[in-house]
Amino acid sequence: MDISSILQGGYQHPLSRSWQAQRTLTKNMLMYPIFITDDPDAHVEIASLPSQCRWGVNKLEDFLGPLVKKGLRSVILFGVPLNCNKDERGTPADDPNGPVIAAIRKIRSLWPDLYIACDVCLCEYTSHGHCGLFRPDGTLDQPPSAARIAEVALAYARAGAHCVAPSDMMDGRIKAIKRALIDNGYGNKVTLMSYSAKFASALYGPFRDAAGSAPAFGDRKCYQLPPTAKGLARRAIKRDVNEGADIIMVKPALPYLDIIQDAKELASDHPLACYQVSGEFAMIVAGARAGVYDLRTMAFETVESLVRAGCTLILTYFTPDFLEWLDE
Ligand code: PBG
Ligand code: ZN
Repeated sequence: MDISSILQGGYQHPLSRSWQAQRTLTKNMLMYPIFITDDPDAHVEIASLPSQCRWGVNKLEDFLGPLVKKGLRSVILFGVPLNCNKDERGTPADDPNGPVIAAIRKIRSLWPDLYIACDVCLCEYTSHGHCGLFRPDGTLDQPPSAARIAEVALAYARAGAHCVAPSDMMDGRIKAIKRALIDNGYGNKVTLMSYSAKFASALYGPFRDAAGSAPAFGDRKCYQLPPTAKGLARRAIKRDVNEGADIIMVKPALPYLDIIQDAKELASDHPLACYQVSGEFAMIVAGARAGVYDLRTMAFETVESLVRAGCTLILTYFTPDFLEWLDE
């Protein structure tokens, strides 16, 4: 055999196998998505999102305390208002007594070192369930949408969020949020993480179940990107870098590894996040339950592929599991 044909000598031991990784998954890279509802005592399982729950503010200490002990470093909050008056402009999104703002305050007081990101969107709070505002003729009205999103982001920043993460995909919202943060004294205090390349995916179903945010009519294809659109994704990433995003995100994750790799090149001076979304998580769990593979092995294989493609931050519902697995 030719000398140059032999590779196996380099990875015959678990330790030498670990040296083959160019980047290694660590607990710091995990951000846990959690659903906060407006019943302060809620602890309600979400049928389509295995082992995930809607939580009330009073339950956060018991829920997150053990995870913080195991090394949880960051969370991203999603509001699930069940007892509010949804309207055209998503008024409840920045209600000072709403669940997200209450949860920010609670978490800051319980664990001052836990990093709090907030998803910023209107779909959980609008009567029509869409992520932006409409003109009377039924088309999206971009400038007021971006302005409204910026208002909500600023309210979360004021409440103490370390990071605001707009997932609405309205044009111009990164610039509007950055401007609002700077003009109100948060430019150097709050991180702006853009869901830059967010695709109109079939994988958000369990989330919409969890958050009650399915659109009342139509779909999100006029603002979320077409799954085939590599060029648009690249343009969105470059735009958001220019508009002042501090972190770029790609979402979903596994079907879009090529976009993650592109983002690594296009935003090479930024941290890169990706979101292993609800449908990816549910699919992995369902496959394991059907005996297709071992859950833990598959969870590692998928998340490590995201790390390999260039992500330094991973939003995943497997976070509690990884906090255990990474200790073993
Ligand atoms: C709201 C939002 C969605 C997700 C994150 N923020 C749903 C959507 O855009 O319809 C999806 C997250 C997941 O599926 O885990 N704009
Ligand atoms: Zn939305």
